[in-house]
Amino acid sequence: MRRTEIAKVLAQPVLNESVTVMGWVRAFRGNRFIALNDGSTPHTLQIVLDAEKMDESILKKIKFHACLSITGQLVASQGAGQAVEVLAENVEILGECNPEDGYMMQPKVQTMEFLRTNAHFRMRTNTFSSVFRLRHAVAFAVHKFYNDRGFYYMHTPIITGSDAEGAGEMFHVTTLDVNNPPLTEEGSVDFGQDFFGKATNLTVSGQLQGEIAALALGKIYTFGPTFRAENSNTPRHLAEFWMIEPEVAFNDIYDNMDLAEEFTKYLINYCLENHLADLELLDKRLAEEQNALPKDKRRAMGLIEQLRFVVDNAFERITYTEAVEILMKSKPYKEKKFEFPVEWGIDLQSEHERYLVEKEFKKPVIVRNYPKEIKAFYMRLNDDDKTVAAMDVLFPGIGEVIGGSQREDRHDLLLERVKAVGIPEEELWWYLQLRQFGGAPHAGFGLGFERMVQFITGMSNIRDVIPFPRTPGNAEF
Ligand code: 4AD
Ligand code: MG
Repeated sequence: MRRTEIAKVLAQPVLNESVTVMGWVRAFRGNRFIALNDGSTPHTLQIVLDAEKMDESILKKIKFHACLSITGQLVASQGAGQAVEVLAENVEILGECNPEDGYMMQPKVQTMEFLRTNAHFRMRTNTFSSVFRLRHAVAFAVHKFYNDRGFYYMHTPIITGSDAEGAGEMFHVTTLDVNNPPLTEEGSVDFGQDFFGKATNLTVSGQLQGEIAALALGKIYTFGPTFRAENSNTPRHLAEFWMIEPEVAFNDIYDNMDLAEEFTKYLINYCLENHLADLELLDKRLAEEQNALPKDKRRAMGLIEQLRFVVDNAFERITYTEAVEILMKSKPYKEKKFEFPVEWGIDLQSEHERYLVEKEFKKPVIVRNYPKEIKAFYMRLNDDDKTVAAMDVLFPGIGEVIGGSQREDRHDLLLERVKAVGIPEEELWWYLQLRQFGGAPHAGFGLGFERMVQFITGMSNIRDVIPFPRTPGNAEF
C-alpha cells in the first residue's frame, strides 16, 4: 500500500479505510499506544496495537525513536486527546533503535547541551522538529515578502577579497600549502601565488555587492551564509550564520527603518498565521523552562503573547544620543550595576540594549545616528559631522537583530572615510566608482536570520536554531 503522510491523515481523515503510515516512535505506552510522527506535522498519530495478536519479536522492537511502517484501519478515536487513530493490522520495523546498542536519546527531558552534542538525532525531538519547521517557514516568508514587493533576489559571492565590515574577523580561503607557503622577498606569505592570485576570505556580508545590484535594479535582497571569525562564545553569536540584506536605491534612513519594521513584523505574522501548532508547542516548552528560573529572571511575556505584542505595536525610534541620555538617568547606571561604561561615544553593549528594550520601552527599539567612530566606513555622514545615518533594531531577549544604514553616496566623503580607517583604496576601487558614475542615495540593512528565528521560537541559545552550529572550537557534523 502507498504511504500517506501523517499531516494528510490528520487533516483529511478517510475513516474506516485502510491506511499505511511510516514514521518514528515518539512514545509507546502500555504495550498498546504508539505516538507516531513523520515530520510532516508537529502532531503525532495514535496507533493502537493488540499485543496479544502481535508477533513477540516485533513487539519488543517497538522502542522510542524506532522507525516503523504501519498499516491498519483509520477510525474515530475511542479516547480523548485525538480525533482519529489507526488500529494496526501490520507492523513492520524499518529501523530498530535500541538503548542497549548505545542509542542515547531518551523520552525524558535531556539538556540542550547534551542534544547539541547529538545533533544527528536532536531533530527527532518535539522541540527541535518544531524549531526547524519554523526556520523553514521564516526563510520562505523572507522570499515571499520581498518577491511580493518587487525586490530581486541577488546571489553575492561567498569568497571575496574585501572585508565589508572592516572588522578584520575573517576566515582565509587558500589552496597554498599551509606548512610551506611561498614567501615574498620580505618574508610574508605570497598570496600572489594563491588560487585567486590574491588573498581571499569567506564573506562577512553581501552588502557591498548588493549595492552594485541596487544601483541598477532598484530593489534587491541577498540571503546567504556569512562567516565571522570573532571569538564570541555567546548565546547570540555563530561563526557561520545566515543574513538577509535588502538594499534599496533612493531610500533614506527613515525609509530604511520603515522597511525593517514592516519586514520583521511580516515574518512573525507569517509564522503566527501558518505555523501556530509549532509555536504553541514551543510556547509550552518556554513556559516550563521559565518556571525553573528565579522570578526576577523570567521573561515578562509568554512566547506567543510576545510575538503578538511585537506585531501589534509600533517600534520605538530614538537617536543614539537619546539612548545614552536615557541610560545615564537609569537606575542600574546610578547604582553602578552596568558592567560596561556609558558615555557619549561608546558602543552600546548588550546590557545597555536590553535595558532600553526590556525596561525602558518594553518593545522593539530602533536606535539611529551613532557616532561615526564606532560604525562601519560606508555609513552616510550626518550634517553634525559627528554621527552617521546608522540604525540598529533591538528586540526583547535578543538585542540587535538588524544593523543597517543609509550609505555614504558622496564620493569625496567616502574616500576620506576609507583612508581614515586605513582600508587600501585599490581593494574597493569598484565600490568607490559606484559613487562616481550614476550614484544615488540608497540604504539597506542586514537581518541576522538565526537571531530572528531565535526570537520567533523562544530558544535561548542561537546554537539551537541552526541545524549544525559552527562556533569557536566546534565544527562537528
Ligand atoms: O550589524 P552587522 O554586522 O551588519 C552588516 O553586516 C551590514 N553589512 C548589514 C547591511 O547593512 N547590509 O550584521 C547584521 C546582523 C546583526 O544585526 C545580527 O543580527 C547578525 O547580523 N549577526 C550575527 N548573527 C549571528 N552570529 C554573529 N556572529 C553575528 N554577527 C552579526
Ligand atoms: Mg551591527
